[in-house]
Amino acid sequence: MDTVQVEYNGKTYTCDTNRPLLFTLNEQGAMVPQSCQQGLCQSCLTQVVKGNVSESSQIGLTDEQKEQGYFLPCVCKPQEDLTLEPARKISPT
Ligand code: FES
Repeated sequence: MDTVQVEYNGKTYTCDTNRPLLFTLNEQGAMVPQSCQQGLCQSCLTQVVKGNVSESSQIGLTDEQKEQGYFLPCVCKPQEDLTLEPARKISPT
């Protein structure tokens, strides 16, 4: 099984490439906010500050959010090492 290294909120986690990030992060104690787990509610909204995420994990977000790297980890299977921040820490001023 392939894995990637994902930094979230300052800690690094090993995540499977074939499972949504939300689950592997939270199983390891990252405590990413969540609700629907289907890419609808945006509770899990997270920003990628290094690396790339799939366009399918940005469906429903505004163009501005997409440009700023926001995505939904409940519908994102990571394909490369990533550095992430919770949305609340980096909301635009
Ligand atoms: S948990 Fe609802 S969009 Fe991710």
